[in-house]
Amino acid sequence: MLNVQGLTTEYADGKGKAVRAAKDISFDVPQGKLFTLLGPSGCGKTTMLRSIAGLERPVKGNISVEDVTVYSAGKGVFVAPNRRNFGMVFQSYAIWPHMSVFENAAFPLRVSKAGFSKKQIEEKVERVLKAVALESYAGREATRLSGGQQQRLALARALVMEPRLLLLDEPLSNLDAKLREQMRFELKRLQRELNLTTLYVTHDQQEALALSHQIAVMNDGQIVQLGSPRDIYEAPQTRFVADFIGSSNFMECKVAARGSEAGRWAVESPAGTIEVVSEEALDVRDKLTVAIRPENVHLIEPGKENGASGNLLEGRVDTKVFLGECVDYMVSVGETRLLARVHPSLRTPIGNPILVNIDPAKVNIITR
Ligand SMILES: Nc1ncnc2c1ncn2[C@@H]1O[C@H](COP(=O)(O)OP(=O)(O)O)[C@@H](O)[C@H]1O
Ligand SMILES: [Mg+2]
Repeated sequence: MLNVQGLTTEYADGKGKAVRAAKDISFDVPQGKLFTLLGPSGCGKTTMLRSIAGLERPVKGNISVEDVTVYSAGKGVFVAPNRRNFGMVFQSYAIWPHMSVFENAAFPLRVSKAGFSKKQIEEKVERVLKAVALESYAGREATRLSGGQQQRLALARALVMEPRLLLLDEPLSNLDAKLREQMRFELKRLQRELNLTTLYVTHDQQEALALSHQIAVMNDGQIVQLGSPRDIYEAPQTRFVADFIGSSNFMECKVAARGSEAGRWAVESPAGTIEVVSEEALDVRDKLTVAIRPENVHLIEPGKENGASGNLLEGRVDTKVFLGECVDYMVSVGETRLLARVHPSLRTPIGNPILVNIDPAKVNIITR
């Protein structure tokens, strides 16, 4: 539905030189899906969103919506932002303080050249206020809404023109943690119910994993990995992705031999020799980096390892932190320490021996 091809946007650096904020970005957002650009502050997310909205003029590439070109460097096409019919909510969403909830939501209709009748405006506003569960607040002054309600009102105002594409730039970042989680569910529900094609921008990995059909992880103006939330989390391809999304134990390893079965390889790691799974053949003596999620480092008390399969290493409990729903153990294994996130039922004291159990399939080989 939204197709972005080779988009590059530059800014002048103040000394007459151009700085590339987004470099050769390509992706597709299918109809009715939520696509997220995820990355650290300054990686070019807002630049991309503004380029798609037509608020920045890229230097290269193409943007089309429903097969209609709205920007093309090659063909010299640039459709003005107000003619693209996109809905937008930015981080600092502006609610009009002197207007009621109803008037805030009605504003885009009133200034529209389409000339909506009083009855049409009433109908459309009622529909969007209902969608964001603000229908009983229509007469209230907008400033007398809670943060979450103001956020929903900003969304209603973006939706009232029935945009074909919704662009959201960190729309939840001004809310406190509890409300942010709640709004995640609301957004997801709205997006699904109204079948909204949405491009979402955030630096918050939890938010991206919770909301998205597809995620493009960005770093330094480029997309470094694109996939489903599960792909991105379970099979990060680069050290940057493995580190930025969730946490990982990294180890520098050397391939030692073929493993116990096809597709498996024994590698020497600072924790000892472990088996890993690789679809590609590995060369003995090759160096590689592996990343293992803390929740995939299982801990077993010595004597209870019967029936455990996969890698089994001897370690010792260094420190542990109780987090309520889980406990983080730091375990010394060989020449390294591994972080293990385990169920609170494990009560091994600090200093005691512990067995570390890792499924070879859960060891990610990092390529870059
Ligand atoms: N108007 C501007 N003029 C010059 N540089 C800019 C401008 N806007 C953003 N930048 C630079 O472009 C890069 C990407 O910024 P931005 O797209 O805002 O990142 P993000 O939204 O991911 O935090 C940053 O290095 C930023 O300093
Ligand atoms: Mg930004």
